[in-house]
Amino acid sequence: MLVLGVETSCDETAVALYDSHRGLLGHRLYSQVDVHAEYGGVVPEIASRDHLRKLLPLIREVLDAEGLKRTAIGGIAYTAGPGLIGALLVGAAVARSLAWAWNIPSVAVHHMEGHLLAPLLEPEPPEFPFVALLVSGGHTLLVDVRGIGSYHVLGESLDDAAGEAFDKTAKLLGLGYPGGPALARLAEGGDAGRFHFPRPMTDRPGLDFSFSGLKTHALNALAALEGTPQDKADIACAFQEAVVDTLVSKCRRALRETGLGRLVVAGGVSANRTMRKKLQAMAESERCRVYFPRPEFCTDNGAMIAFAGCRRLLAGQCETSAIEARARWPM
Ligand code: KG4
Ligand code: ZN
Repeated sequence: MLVLGVETSCDETAVALYDSHRGLLGHRLYSQVDVHAEYGGVVPEIASRDHLRKLLPLIREVLDAEGLKRTAIGGIAYTAGPGLIGALLVGAAVARSLAWAWNIPSVAVHHMEGHLLAPLLEPEPPEFPFVALLVSGGHTLLVDVRGIGSYHVLGESLDDAAGEAFDKTAKLLGLGYPGGPALARLAEGGDAGRFHFPRPMTDRPGLDFSFSGLKTHALNALAALEGTPQDKADIACAFQEAVVDTLVSKCRRALRETGLGRLVVAGGVSANRTMRKKLQAMAESERCRVYFPRPEFCTDNGAMIAFAGCRRLLAGQCETSAIEARARWPM
């Protein structure tokens, strides 16, 4: 079955074609980053309008590039939430309308399930069961994954998501939007030893997280200094180490508590190179294996939605009801 995937939950318009036999055939992504950069963050209304402008041309482009006719498509998967409601509605309305017009099934995909399954698009995919660490701009979740649709949340952030903490700290260091990758670049020239940031909630049992205090810690460290470029790089480095060490510590705990031998890491922050290295080292010392998506599929993309939707459509799940979009949607 060939499935068209549509992702419009935030500031990337993304589409992909995934075939259950041949794998990923093609994907396209248009990032709105330049449109929102001058506002210092995503403006929801502008995001919706830009998705509307770009979505159909991208679908046409990916079909043409693969030399495929729309009649080859057997189903459509779209992100139905969580995310910005207006942005979600554009993707949902286009996907459902095309499915209706072409007389094929459509399926609503949970954005975080898309992220969770992204590592399964790689050449050596993990087998079930595994522990998943999902680290994006909106969520930080540790999940016990037994199979498609069998998700038990082990822990989550009680305040800011890891990506959100990166973005907010980047902003106070004077870095532009999107902040996470910019902070990671700045940290490369920093000295982590100059400041000691706490590792929140690692001194007590449990698998929940709290990242908002680290941003305040960075703010206080900066306020006590002149704020030279080196000061900022050192703060960025110490902040990044603290986030990464905290995530690594909780992942180790989750692997030990569940007794599982595989860790899957996905979501925008999983592109962070320091985090990938430290998680890899931890997994080796625990005799576990860790799986990441390729960097372009860490952040939002259409491939993960096409893949998740394909698995769900093959399992017989499809919709008959109205267009579905939910700003909030627990996993
Ligand atoms: O998964 P994603 O593209 O969108 C959401 O579902 O939220 O994640 C975006 C988040 C942003 O907070 C961004 O700053 C962060 O991922 N991010 C990074 C890196 N690349 C993206 N954070 C740290 N280091 C990176 N290299
Ligand atoms: Zn995402």
